[in-house]
Amino acid sequence: MGLLKKALIALIGILLAVYFYSGKEFKPEMLKGKRVIVTGASSGIGEQMAYHLGKMGSHILITARTEEKLKKVVERCLKLGAASAYYIPGSMDNMTFARQVVHEAKSLFGGLDMLILNHIGYSYFNFFDGDVDHIRKLLEINFLSYATMTVEALPMLKESEGNIVVVSSVAGKLGLPLTVPYSTTKFALDGFFSSLRMEFYHQKVNVSVTLCVISYIDTDTAVNTVARVINHLPAPKEECALEIIKGGALRQREVYYQYHATKIPLLLRDWAPDFLDYLLLKNYNIEELNKKSE
Ligand SMILES: NC(=O)c1ccc[n+]([C@@H]2O[C@H](COP(=O)([O-])OP(=O)(O)OC[C@H]3O[C@@H](n4cnc5c(N)ncnc54)[C@H](OP(=O)(O)O)[C@@H]3O)[C@@H](O)[C@H]2O)c1
Ligand SMILES: *[C@@H]1O[C@H](CO)[C@@H](O)[C@H](O)[C@H]1NC(C)=O
Ligand SMILES: *[C@@H]1O[C@H](CO)[C@@H](O)[C@H](O)[C@H]1NC(C)=O
Repeated sequence: MGLLKKALIALIGILLAVYFYSGKEFKPEMLKGKRVIVTGASSGIGEQMAYHLGKMGSHILITARTEEKLKKVVERCLKLGAASAYYIPGSMDNMTFARQVVHEAKSLFGGLDMLILNHIGYSYFNFFDGDVDHIRKLLEINFLSYATMTVEALPMLKESEGNIVVVSSVAGKLGLPLTVPYSTTKFALDGFFSSLRMEFYHQKVNVSVTLCVISYIDTDTAVNTVARVINHLPAPKEECALEIIKGGALRQREVYYQYHATKIPLLLRDWAPDFLDYLLLKNYNIEELNKKSE
């Protein structure tokens, strides 16, 4: 009887949670007038996030290394309806620059509502080559700059009860082949931000932390790197970008996009890891990798 009662309470809890979550609906107006930083916004998913935010009427500060591309993205954001849009070029292997981006938001907007961390440095798509120094450098760009910007932005985010949005990957939740350095940096993000979220709960810091678990997306970089090796089709970057913004605005702990391509493997991960490894490996044409480098 005791067990049944517990199960019943758990079930009611789940139903209430579902009801509670479905009650919170996303509206584009949620982003109107909000002050947002998007990193890695000169191309791919970051660029698309900037356009969505433009349409929603946000104040936008974007960054990446390539100034000409950033300039064009800013122009388009303004045409789409951004309240304001600025860019600051620089490389995220430089922590002084990472801090400077946050300071720029402070002087431009006087505060910050949402910090979207999305950039990644270049890495190879192949078997691990033994180069540990490359992992160290990639950690600087893909991980330490995220931590640095978060620390720097926290006072502003506390004041606005804002959002931290971290773009990760299935490769940041599961071990996948051919992306050892990348996967390392993405797992680090989960450790840092999931622990931080717990501390925020305890300390009653009302800043949401949203970790985005993203599957294969049709950005130029991803398609050019993996198209021949991965057996399924990429999902659209426009929709992916919107789902990330929605998850951040709704203060969700994690975003899964595409849902089935991320959530199902994650459900299997703890219950049937060997079966999952088998399924995942079947998705790869590893022979194509060698053909490509010929
Ligand atoms: N596409 C996918 O299949 C996929 C799947 C799962 C997760 N994700 C995640 O989604 C996010 C965006 O990926 P994406 O496919 O849109 O990539 P992308 O198109 O290659 O964009 C990467 C962005 O980062 C910038 N960047 C590169 N090196 C940098 C550096 N050293 N310092 C500062 N910025 C730098 C790039 O601009 P510059 O070159 O001008 O600096 C660009 O704006 C990443 O976090 C990625 O891990 C993507
Ligand atoms: C790092 O960034 C700062 C601030 O943008 C800049 O002044 C400095 O020259 C950069 N350092 C390097 C090595 O690029
Ligand atoms: C946290 O901040 C959000 C956004 O301002 C607000 O809706 C929510 O009520 C706050 N929660 C608490 C516990 O203060």
